[in-house]
Amino acid sequence: MGPRERALIEQAKLVLEFNWTGGYTKPGPRLYPHQWSWDSALISIGYSHYDQGRAESELLHLLDARWRNGLLPQIVFNPSFGNYFPGPGFWHAQESPDAPEGHKTSGVVQPPVHATAARLVYERAPDRRRARGFLERAYPHLAAWHDYLYRERDPEGEGLAYIRHPWESGMDNAPLWDAILQRMHLREDEIPAYRRVDVHTVSEQDRPTSAAYDRFAYLVKLFAELGYDEAGIRRRCPFLVQDVLFNSLLCRAGEDLAELASEVGEDPSPHRERARRTARALDGKLWDEEHGTYLDYDLVAKRPIHVYCAANFLPLFAGVPDAGKARRMVDFLERGGFGLSGGHIKPVPSYDVRGFGFSPTQYWRGPVWINMDWFLMRGLRRYGYGEQAGRLRDAIVELCEKSGFYEYFDPATGQGHGSVLFSWSAALLIDALLGAEEGDR
Ligand code: GLC
Repeated sequence: MGPRERALIEQAKLVLEFNWTGGYTKPGPRLYPHQWSWDSALISIGYSHYDQGRAESELLHLLDARWRNGLLPQIVFNPSFGNYFPGPGFWHAQESPDAPEGHKTSGVVQPPVHATAARLVYERAPDRRRARGFLERAYPHLAAWHDYLYRERDPEGEGLAYIRHPWESGMDNAPLWDAILQRMHLREDEIPAYRRVDVHTVSEQDRPTSAAYDRFAYLVKLFAELGYDEAGIRRRCPFLVQDVLFNSLLCRAGEDLAELASEVGEDPSPHRERARRTARALDGKLWDEEHGTYLDYDLVAKRPIHVYCAANFLPLFAGVPDAGKARRMVDFLERGGFGLSGGHIKPVPSYDVRGFGFSPTQYWRGPVWINMDWFLMRGLRRYGYGEQAGRLRDAIVELCEKSGFYEYFDPATGQGHGSVLFSWSAALLIDALLGAEEGDR
């Protein structure tokens, strides 16, 4: 590694330092003051290279807010930051009998990348014996979280967990959800009163439209009215999706959880068996033979969602496709509108640049996100596509170096958008530069 890369790593560490609150790391200084679930998992992977204590606290602070039924919340609110929408008063999460004591949280989840992060944090610990204490605390929470997903979100036992709100995908405003949101015809009195704060912090044009936001808010109100009873939600919720990214991360995390189970003397086989079931279901139900990638499935309309996002390629990260399918996916990433073969766009935009709903700057509708590049980089390396993985590593470095640690980047110009000093961009830059030797997993 040269001096350029070393300097960039130091800058990335400063971003994390700036956002550190003493208990967890804010995803971004102004737009995201609370603790976010998958952000913290990704952030802990960055810390795992140089600060074991913080890597562990980051995850434990989140796991501590787990609900009694195993639900790991998308947001753990920090009471010092009151001016946030939707805050605890909108979620009414504490009215659920399952809500945790001592923490205010939202009532949805985010992609389950936590066991994968915990494994990296544990395995990289400079002193494994000391890190066992961390693992012994984290493991029961992680196991309960996975139990929750398979019990409550996969009632038919298919091996695929559903998400019930676009926010649960982590890709809040992706074109994947357009058709479902469009068919939600809301009456005036069904739209809750709310006041957004995001549009006062970053450019309004980059953020979700108010029509989309009405529907996001409607879904939250529905969950609160149903007291977060999952069986009731399942019956009434117009948004139920088996998402490729969510299930790929679940599958991969299930394998990692099995390894952690062995470490703490628990039986790894149930975790391994579930991970295999999820892999088979992804490959059977969600594979799109026509285009050579995976598709989300809309459980309400009972049909696949024919929208092509970077996230649809995440089964590579979980080792799901066989070599032939992986080849077709790489072809798509190179020849479709994802820019993996070089040329005029930075790889990989979150949504196909030739897709109907593409925008280079709108939230999840086209910009490059560092976490997507990172997942795909590791996935490609796992399948032996070292050169393509190298291009993604270079893209991560170039975007952060030239534009700064933004939340997302215009794939045409590389210009940064959204939050400045974005923590997971910094954390994953650190890992992209320092973690290459583990890229095959
Ligand atoms: C946005 C992103 C989500 C992320 C959160 C905090 O809502 O869509 O994935 O977790 O910001 O960074």
